[in-house]
Amino acid sequence: MADLDKPTETKDFHLDIQQRSEAFFLKGSNCLDWGMKNRLARIFNAQSGKTVMLAIDHGYFQGPTTGLERVDVNIVPLLPHADTLMLTRGILRSVIPPSYTRGIVLRASGGPSILKELSNEQIAMDIEDVLRLNAAAMAVQVFIGGEHETQSVHNMTRLVDIGNRYGLPTLAVTAVGRDMVRDAKYMRLACRICAELGASYVKTYYVDEGFQTVTASCPVPIVIAGGKKLPELEALRMAYNAIDQGALGVDMGRNIFQAESPALMAQAVRKVVHEGEKPEHAYDFYRSAKVEVAVA
Ligand code: R5P
Repeated sequence: MADLDKPTETKDFHLDIQQRSEAFFLKGSNCLDWGMKNRLARIFNAQSGKTVMLAIDHGYFQGPTTGLERVDVNIVPLLPHADTLMLTRGILRSVIPPSYTRGIVLRASGGPSILKELSNEQIAMDIEDVLRLNAAAMAVQVFIGGEHETQSVHNMTRLVDIGNRYGLPTLAVTAVGRDMVRDAKYMRLACRICAELGASYVKTYYVDEGFQTVTASCPVPIVIAGGKKLPELEALRMAYNAIDQGALGVDMGRNIFQAESPALMAQAVRKVVHEGEKPEHAYDFYRSAKVEVAVA
């Protein structure tokens, strides 16, 4: 029954408190719509402003990558240590428990395998399926300087347009061709193009020289890919340096799931990314926890 008989005077309208209007915590994202911000907050932790994305989408062009042969066995136990999972809809539907409630970033471009020209990608998902799977964002590969540069940029801008219609962020993944120089100049170019053309955030590679100029000149958040497997301490150093120089997270795959102890490596990466812990301390945690696990 409606509460009609209480006099207005007994209600408390907190007339002395002004309604607050807070800026959104994420770089370059304040003017986005509510749904877009809400989805980004399922990817980036609002307290630290950072994210540890676990990237397991490698199979979309290279098949059963080392460490990803059995996602059900090797990756599902890592889920509690990731803020976000980046993967294909095939693996999501077949293997990931629907009780997983953190952010999902769906690989939405594809086509060529490692046997062909990789830049020849097309959009590989319908927006309806992205929404059906309750994703937090779509990821699209962008090949600046690649043979099919324009096509890949158009894939991105089409996804940005569709995503904007439904409040779905688009992650632009900058792919660097084998024969291209991986330096700050290239990363600045690639990241800035993606941001200018509407990407909500950009994934790129860390470079030792001048990485801060890449993050400074990109008006939206940057996360770094891990790249090829490195010794654990080196991978933690890379993550630390990237965050220290303005990256807002990592989208790390092989350096976590190919580590000797993937769950501990994921936790060590979290310490660096979310707590700003020095790589040497995070590595100490990794090593000593590994010994404890071995002894137990
Ligand atoms: C390419 O296969 C994907 O975009 C990966 O998600 C990306 O390279 C990150 O994975 P990794 O840290 O293994 O480089």
